[in-house]
Amino acid sequence: MKTLPVDLGSRSYDIHIAPGLLDRTGEEIRKVCPRAKRIAIVTDANVEPLYSVRVEDSLEAAGFDTGLFTGPAGEGAKCATHLAALWEAMMHFGLTRTDAVVALGGGVVGDLAGFAAATILRGVDFIQIPTTLLAQVDSSVGGKVAIDLAHGKNLAGAFWQPKVVLMDPETLNTLDDKTFSDGMAEVIKYGCIADRDFFDFLCAHPTRGEIMANIEHVLYTCCDIKRSVVEEDERDTGRRMLLNFGHTIGHAYELAGNYETWTHGQAVSAGMVAAAKLGVSLQITPAQLPGRITELLSAFDLPTHISCDATTYAAAICHDKKSAGSDVTVILLDSIGHAIGHTMPSAALVRLANSLRV
Ligand code: GLY
Repeated sequence: MKTLPVDLGSRSYDIHIAPGLLDRTGEEIRKVCPRAKRIAIVTDANVEPLYSVRVEDSLEAAGFDTGLFTGPAGEGAKCATHLAALWEAMMHFGLTRTDAVVALGGGVVGDLAGFAAATILRGVDFIQIPTTLLAQVDSSVGGKVAIDLAHGKNLAGAFWQPKVVLMDPETLNTLDDKTFSDGMAEVIKYGCIADRDFFDFLCAHPTRGEIMANIEHVLYTCCDIKRSVVEEDERDTGRRMLLNFGHTIGHAYELAGNYETWTHGQAVSAGMVAAAKLGVSLQITPAQLPGRITELLSAFDLPTHISCDATTYAAAICHDKKSAGSDVTVILLDSIGHAIGHTMPSAALVRLANSLRV
């Protein structure tokens, strides 16, 4: 088992990565929640038939009473209506302040379960068991939990760190290729922003089979980069913004497709190429860099260009969480493996993105 400690003082926790770890859920949670009696397992309709019995059996063998809370699959589950239903169901189950909530699933389940854990009874212990590549390399680490509002995604949320993150790479075997590639966009992002050797490693292993043959190294490397960023900037007021490489323009693509045409990873993929081209135009990024990123993303069938009009760029960029007044900080690369925040007027970024047709 590979273990990565995340050092956040009293909120510190371990990330464990091991094939077959699902069957050791109970013993691992007992170590971090010694007083808990009941565990609420939050999952979705896709993941429940695949993995819930193994997790329940392991928890019950460790002496916990379990309750299973299965919501619909998809982003629509991350809403106030489902959250309220989950709160009531947890009360009906008899959850107390010394009990715990487990998220078993992808990013949507993690965000919903995490926000429920952060708020029910003013906060109970939370455990992440991410089952998608995107959730394993990104959303399960760092404590951001949220639901969507009619005004936009992730607008009501909290920072609520898990007690432990349990990653079983074997859960990735049941992902379809599109969902696997969705996670690869974030994997490639880590190489771009923080680790040239890892970027070169991915270029040398450009298939799902080769990534899975090295999956513990891939997960560990990505989580280690995220760990170092989150340890320095837990509340996302500085360095953590570098994790948003590809996301500013990517949000415009998600909006252009009405959050249905493109997955988050697909939009971030094209957003990273766009950011690389913007960086070249601003004389920050070396000219050959967009081509190198494009080649690697294409190997995983990720889009490297998405059409978008000026109005949509403006709507997404001016509402970007990193915008302050009329300025926006866009994340650019000055080399593969090194990102910087570049602050410029939002209107100038909209004009540039539109004129480059990125
Ligand atoms: N996914 C970006 C962050 O956790 O800050």
